[in-house]
Amino acid sequence: MKKLIGPFTQILPLPSLSLKGVLRDEQLHIIPNGGVLTENELILAVGDFEELRKANPKAEIEEITGSQVLMPGFIDCHTHICFGGKRAKDYAMRIAGKTYLEIAQSGGGIWDTVTQTRAADEAMLTELLVQRANRHLAEGVTTIEVKSGYGLSLAEELKQLRAIKAAAAKTKAKMVSTCLAAHMVPKDFNGSQREYLEYVLHELLPVVREENLAARVDIFIEQSAFDAENALFYLDKAKQMGFEITVHADQFTTGGSKVAVEVGALSADHLEASGAAEIELLAESNTVAVTLPGASLGLGMPYAPARKLLDAGACLAIASDWNPGSAPMGDLLMQAAVMSASEKLTTAEVFAGLTYRAAAALKITNRGILAPGMLADMQAYPCADYHEILYYQGKMKPGKVWTADFNDFG
Ligand code: NIG
Ligand code: FE
Repeated sequence: MKKLIGPFTQILPLPSLSLKGVLRDEQLHIIPNGGVLTENELILAVGDFEELRKANPKAEIEEITGSQVLMPGFIDCHTHICFGGKRAKDYAMRIAGKTYLEIAQSGGGIWDTVTQTRAADEAMLTELLVQRANRHLAEGVTTIEVKSGYGLSLAEELKQLRAIKAAAAKTKAKMVSTCLAAHMVPKDFNGSQREYLEYVLHELLPVVREENLAARVDIFIEQSAFDAENALFYLDKAKQMGFEITVHADQFTTGGSKVAVEVGALSADHLEASGAAEIELLAESNTVAVTLPGASLGLGMPYAPARKLLDAGACLAIASDWNPGSAPMGDLLMQAAVMSASEKLTTAEVFAGLTYRAAAALKITNRGILAPGMLADMQAYPCADYHEILYYQGKMKPGKVWTADFNDFG
């Protein structure tokens, strides 16, 4: 059954914008009084509402009243929302001026969440994840990447990844799962970085593949986690096993983005510490540069050099990094809007970074723009002018979110 949705005051379909580099707002194609024709939750056409109605007299009409601006659903290509517990004490210590090391030494940090996540069973983790995914969905985020990384043992990583897969079937948001067993060397592992990575490669990843729990692996390259040499060893092997690669890179110190580009990672995420050499490397590569303003806000650190990355020609995506430690807020639009004022990003660059450029980071080709053949993953804001969406800095939320009911978990 064909369905015509509209009329919308404006539609921002976002196709035909470039994947990499600078975007000017004049390049945004705006359809006034627009409509979207769908069938089986796939988009058949996007255009003038009245013309679509005349050409499709039998289509069921989903009438939109009042001023509404329609755009593709957001794609959050980096989250850690499968976790138990919270880390409010870390935050209190951080805003009071304690260092990363001091917080970790007093029982905080990633390991604290590992302990709290291990204490939750799979059903509880699934339930918490569904709640967080549905909150994101209500805020217009129709596709959500979710990492493991708070299990850090064979059984506990599998528990997290199975919870992600189970949650994906219980929410209308689409989930993309990533194995982040290489988040840090677990405190209860008796061995070196290399030995832990070998354990993950030999014991965990074959099961992940067999049970179809994740098609991607991530690693945290940092002084407190894994060095570049061990990361290269791990990522090469994971790639040989058929996994796609993404990397936590250049958050506090550089080195990660070089590894990401060298192994042909889909994305290098964080980049707060990236300098001219890293920016150039990323811009010349096909690796998507993912900025995580939520982590900068949570840690009180500078943003990644988003403007410089775009000027150099990189593909820049914006994600929330929603996690209980460094980025507890999880409001993607608010974070993107606030960062864009400091980094001087155009509206087109922000919207691209939240939609089709984020899709590239996940190698997703069926959403992120509104065009024939794409899934009808869309959101409408209660305003007459798309400029208002960033103007209210994320306070204005979509009144309606559509997500195609396709179970394409991956
Ligand atoms: O992306 N940087 C490493 N990992 C997470 C933080 C996880 C945590 O603190 O629990 C991040 O910011
Ligand atoms: Fe992260």
